[in-house]
Amino acid sequence: MTTCSAPGKVYLFGEHAVVYGEPAVPCAVERRARVTAEPRSDDRVQVDARDLSLDGFTVTWGGSVDDRPDVDAPPGLVEAAMRYVDEAVAQTRDAVGDPDQGFDITVESDIPLGAGLGSSAAVVVAAIKAATSAVGVDLPPEAVADRAFRAEYEAQDGQASRADTFCSAVGGAVRVEGDDTRRLSAPSLPFVIGYDGGAGDTGELVAGVRDLRERHGFAADTVAAIGDLTRTGESLLAEADAEGLDDDHLDALGELMDVDHGLLSALGVSARSLDEMVWTAREAGATGAKLTGAGGGGCVVALDPTDATETALSLAPACEHAFRAELATEGVRIESE
Ligand code: PMV
Repeated sequence: MTTCSAPGKVYLFGEHAVVYGEPAVPCAVERRARVTAEPRSDDRVQVDARDLSLDGFTVTWGGSVDDRPDVDAPPGLVEAAMRYVDEAVAQTRDAVGDPDQGFDITVESDIPLGAGLGSSAAVVVAAIKAATSAVGVDLPPEAVADRAFRAEYEAQDGQASRADTFCSAVGGAVRVEGDDTRRLSAPSLPFVIGYDGGAGDTGELVAGVRDLRERHGFAADTVAAIGDLTRTGESLLAEADAEGLDDDHLDALGELMDVDHGLLSALGVSARSLDEMVWTAREAGATGAKLTGAGGGGCVVALDPTDATETALSLAPACEHAFRAELATEGVRIESE
């Protein structure tokens, strides 16, 4: 039996624009999904996902999601969780060269689902690492990232960038531009996250930006401006890392986050709750704040080395939960075997 964990992430800069080949900078944060895998002697897969819904659920199937289970959990949630785990198992079977290997899999996660924090990527990354390790195959983080990307790509019908899975597998701050993925050297930033308790529909939001961009040249310019902003942000991160992070760097990075949020709002992917949390953070003294991920609901990320933003967010009506999240310098890791 092997247990592995993998972190969630926030986008410091560049979501949505990354879909059109612009660079993005996601950062792994210390909120983890943990997956335990135990090889079975048959070809079946049993998934126990206690923390992913209020009541939790256990599903056993013969390796195919066509085999619908009858469980006490929202069907969409069960189906989504099964597709991700099913694809992670398919990647594992391919990696270990045994198409009939079965597994008992337990999933626990302290990353809110569908809220822009990369919960599904963290589950897929941790699942592939745990299941391969459980049968004695040691995949390096880059190989886990690649297989996790393929699993997400299949589970999301071809709508996936490498950002979430690469960031979760290797940890730290990363840069993603198309298929080019690399780790950045970056200081630990004082992230504060506000969560509205909801979630956006990534597919719908991406489609909305695509439509706007096709109909209006200025929307295409807005996407390109996010790319320019991200490149400026990358240079700033490198400078802060070389010189040691100080208040000027935090102000400059925060300013870019504010602009990024404005550009994302212009593309129609913010929401009242996200805007309210962004303004609460700014008024509390955060150097900058923006939505993270697809938008439409879910999380905002702010920069504040003091407790003021977390306190203000936790009192804000729009915010269900506020927490500080350190940069997770380590990506996927084995917790026990
Ligand atoms: O909400 P998330 O964490 O799945 O992020 C979506 C990020 C987008 O850029 C909007 C889409 C993508 O696949 O990159």
